[in-house]
Amino acid sequence: MKKIVISLGGSILIQSPESNTIKAYVPALRAIARNHRLFVVVGGGDMARRYITVVRDIGIDEGTSDEIGILLTRLNATLLIAALGDDAYPKVAETHSEAKKFAETGKIVVMGGITPGQTTDAVAAVLAERVGASVFINVTSVDGIYSEDPKKNKNAKHFTAMTPKELLGIVGGTALVAGSNNVLDIVAARVVERSHIPLVVLDGRDSKNISRAILTGVYHGTVVSESMENPLPL
Ligand code: UTP
Repeated sequence: MKKIVISLGGSILIQSPESNTIKAYVPALRAIARNHRLFVVVGGGDMARRYITVVRDIGIDEGTSDEIGILLTRLNATLLIAALGDDAYPKVAETHSEAKKFAETGKIVVMGGITPGQTTDAVAAVLAERVGASVFINVTSVDGIYSEDPKKNKNAKHFTAMTPKELLGIVGGTALVAGSNNVLDIVAARVVERSHIPLVVLDGRDSKNISRAILTGVYHGTVVSESMENPLPL
């Protein structure tokens, strides 16, 4: 069994409590977990950003905004665990060590955020390192990495493959503030570079893309690794 770490953005799984794709994701995640050891790190989505805006408007510091963001990611993680039922370990892992321990049960392990100053992408990148994952998958609302935000610039260039250094060149200039919205945070990009674990960025707006990518290797996205070779299927 190969180990897979998926960073599942809140904007994909739980746009808002009323508008979520949890029911669609449960069968996709179960299908992957039948063949592989699966770790899922859940983001905070729009609710986290809304809370962060409120906290900032009150004039509270960025670190506290981050702490509130972390609580929202853990709330979303709790919701996913409940939806996965017996297939998931029943508690949100609050540290990487805890995640490793929970994985000994063979269940899907779910985490949210852990520490201020980063996003759940960084949590997932370090988790991939800690568990020796075969691949780190970042599920987002665009079909891979572009030279610029494709939602803002229609002429942005899509990359099918790139090296970790090239990734750092793209995300290096972005600000690290609570609730910021980049394809991958800089901490995660640095960990990807040092871990030598291939990263695949793909579009998760359709939940079937994820299981199809992992189990058949068919997807449209971006591979980030030194060799730039497609690490999927597993
Ligand atoms: P997310 O990981 O959800 O950020 O964390 P995101 O990039 O906006 O991801 P999407 O939209 O869900 O895909 C939400 C916020 O929680 C705080 C940060 O402020 C982050 O912006 N956070 C999260 C931390 O401070 N530390 C963590 O480990 C995780």
